Amino acid sequence: MSRLKIAAGNWKMNKELEEALDITRTLANSSRPTDVLTILGAPYPFLKSLVDQTLYVDHLDIAAQNCHHKVSGAYTGEVSVDMLDSLGVQYVIVGHSERREYFSETDDMLAEKVNLLLAKQMIPIFCCGEPLEIRKAGNHESHVGSQVSNALFHLSPEQMKEIIIAYEPIWAIGTGETASPEQAQEMHASIRDLIKDQYGSEISEMIPILYGGSVKPSNAKEIFSQPDVDGGLVGGASLKADDFLEIIHSF
Ligand code: PGA
Repeated sequence: MSRLKIAAGNWKMNKELEEALDITRTLANSSRPTDVLTILGAPYPFLKSLVDQTLYVDHLDIAAQNCHHKVSGAYTGEVSVDMLDSLGVQYVIVGHSERREYFSETDDMLAEKVNLLLAKQMIPIFCCGEPLEIRKAGNHESHVGSQVSNALFHLSPEQMKEIIIAYEPIWAIGTGETASPEQAQEMHASIRDLIKDQYGSEISEMIPILYGGSVKPSNAKEIFSQPDVDGGLVGGASLKADDFLEIIHSF
């Protein structure tokens, strides 16, 4: 069964509005493969403009990089799922390692975020990944497995089908060091197996699992060619339209 191929960018806390509009315009006006969905993970203040800019552009969608885990209320400075929904945002990155590390996001909070998003028919891009010490100790599969099961395995099969997973080894994020294609494949297969054990093979075969961590034009093809790698979540290399386009063309 062929799964959706996805090239998702994560701009993090970079760019100003005009630059963001510029990159988006370039991607919108460039030829892109029709079987690859491109998603741009943009900062909150740009979302409305970018959603409007891409409304009638095929295979190009906008994601928020986060959302709050409560529905609404006295959380000064936070952004709710309902707010994002009201802008027309369809995708939200959930549980990026930088959020887990710098903002103390827990599996329980991520489960709440996922629930709120699915209730609004929005799609979580759920991030997981191990730090270097865990990989060195050989515990990476169980570490990532528990991140996935803790935050997602309360979902019904119908809900689980909607999830996109991004495996991002923390030691490869922004470091220039990439997991080898074999390391990525091994972990993606292990995540897929875990989902299969819980939900059966029909669902496990449907779920796109993206790799993230120093994906760039020079390594994307090899990583994306692995059987269980369905695309990438790309930080640094999504900040330049030309580099990101090359990645989009790497499937
Ligand atoms: P990077 O970031 O591509 O710059 O390593 C990936 C990510 O954090 O999503």
